[in-house]
Amino acid sequence: MDYQQSERTYDFDVVRWFSIMAIVYLVVGTAVGLLIAAQLAWPVLNFDSQYLSFGRLRPLHTNAVIFAFGGCTLMATSFYSVQRTCGAALWSSKMAWFTFWGWNLVIVLAVITLPLGLTQAKEYAELEWPIDILIAVVWLSYLFNFVMTIAKRKSSHIYVSNWFFLAMLVMITYLHVVNSLAVPVSLFKSYSIFSGVQDAMIQWWYGHNAVGFYLTAGFLGIMYYFVPKQANRPIYSYRLSVIHFWALTFGYVWLGAHHLQYTALPDWTGSLGAAISLAMIIPSWGGAVNGMMTLSGAWDKLRTDYVLRFLIASLAFYAMSTFEGPVMSLKTVNALSHYTDWTIGHVHSGALGWVLMVAVGAIYHLVTRLWNTEMYSTKLVNMHFWLTTIGACIYIVAMWVSGIMQGLMWRAYDDYGTLAYTFAESVEAMHPYYALRVVGGAFVVLGAITMLYNVVMTVRKASAEGRVGESGTAPASA
Ligand code: HEM
Ligand code: HEM
Repeated sequence: MDYQQSERTYDFDVVRWFSIMAIVYLVVGTAVGLLIAAQLAWPVLNFDSQYLSFGRLRPLHTNAVIFAFGGCTLMATSFYSVQRTCGAALWSSKMAWFTFWGWNLVIVLAVITLPLGLTQAKEYAELEWPIDILIAVVWLSYLFNFVMTIAKRKSSHIYVSNWFFLAMLVMITYLHVVNSLAVPVSLFKSYSIFSGVQDAMIQWWYGHNAVGFYLTAGFLGIMYYFVPKQANRPIYSYRLSVIHFWALTFGYVWLGAHHLQYTALPDWTGSLGAAISLAMIIPSWGGAVNGMMTLSGAWDKLRTDYVLRFLIASLAFYAMSTFEGPVMSLKTVNALSHYTDWTIGHVHSGALGWVLMVAVGAIYHLVTRLWNTEMYSTKLVNMHFWLTTIGACIYIVAMWVSGIMQGLMWRAYDDYGTLAYTFAESVEAMHPYYALRVVGGAFVVLGAITMLYNVVMTVRKASAEGRVGESGTAPASA
């Protein structure tokens, strides 16, 4: 890789900043996750303060990991790969910087308003209406720039990763706008225009598609570009990736009702949600196998390439969580799992195993390309891999055990037909597993800090060696 060989100029400065911010938010978001996990085990850590209470910090955690860490990762990787696959610089550098500053402003506003208790009380859409409008404007700038960059591409073909990013961009616009429709009564308070069962349905149509299009389709866009790049091999089956795309896009929008089994929703909606959820195993596993088989004949790379380990392990977790999800959507299983920590275990097998790992693998890849250098320490990358893998497994297993135990305790009857356990007894039984989750979470946070340190040292080394082109010139071979 030699900068002097470069003939094309790309807009990589903004990608560099999105990448750095993604790592910073990974540390912050997981650290808040660790704190709230510790609060559940030891309530004294709420410090008797409304601002630091679990109820206020929980949405801060979800917003920080999903929108701050996940959002910056998606913006970094998509703005990078769209330029490389289209052979064209971003349509507008200024607009990309607007997206960068706008998105970070949204994050700062979330950090201020959520601990103050200013919330719409809609999960994953907590931020109040003025911030929602800002999100819509910033997101549209991201969408527009992405589409216009594709429009000026040099090749006639649009690579599959761009299709996944496009699906995410379009669907999130639609979901965010519809779910956030509200009547403002003051600057910091609004009421949803939906009520009752319609409100619940719209909320979970949004909620599941946030999972389906943001945490899945967007991160699959990352997978389809970065796995072949890091493995230095073409994707195993391009045809399968196209089938994966269309099946996922048509399937995901029907699943929302599986979050609302046994509620006031008509029974058939839950059955439909469960049936389509089951069908989703096929495209999801097709995609996971497609990514993994890219290494077919070159599995030995996993022995030495630690970044590839992150990417391939993420696919194993993707396969696992997309098997578990459909099983949990079945009414009989959901009757046990809903309201328990099993859901939290499922969430984090997707979040820590799939989303975090594929993102981290892609960012390591990006750092070496964007700063035209090797990582400061590959040993630390390996350490990060093991900290995350072990931490995620501890977290997930602890929640599975605690969740299934909770479900079983709540439905156990004695010989007289009365409940065998009080609710408080089930809370007490959770304690060892909550403490175990703190241990798993600490591993993950430590891994994130290791990454931040490693990347800062890499950037410092590259800057000292004068490796980075000022305008963000790309090495032709990257
Ligand atoms: C150190 C790592 C992490 C720890 C210790 C942690 C801890 C927690 C805790 C304690 C909760 C609340 C559970 C409850 O209410 O019972 C939670 C919720 C959640 N976390 Fe994490 N988390 C971590 C990383 C992540 C990451 C990286 C993501 C996403 C990419 C994520 C996404 C979520 C989501 C979506 C929820 C809400 C789940 C639901 O409502 O069912 N977490 N987390
Ligand atoms: C085919 C794929 C999947 C299906 C069918 C599925 C299905 C489900 C089901 C049935 C629930 C429990 C609903 C409830 O009882 O309330 C759930 C919760 C959840 N799943 Fe999945 N899941 C899938 C993949 C994933 C992936 C890959 C992630 C990635 C991060 C994920 C994130 C979540 C989150 C965040 C929740 C909790 C929502 C909440 O209650 O706050 N899921 N999923």
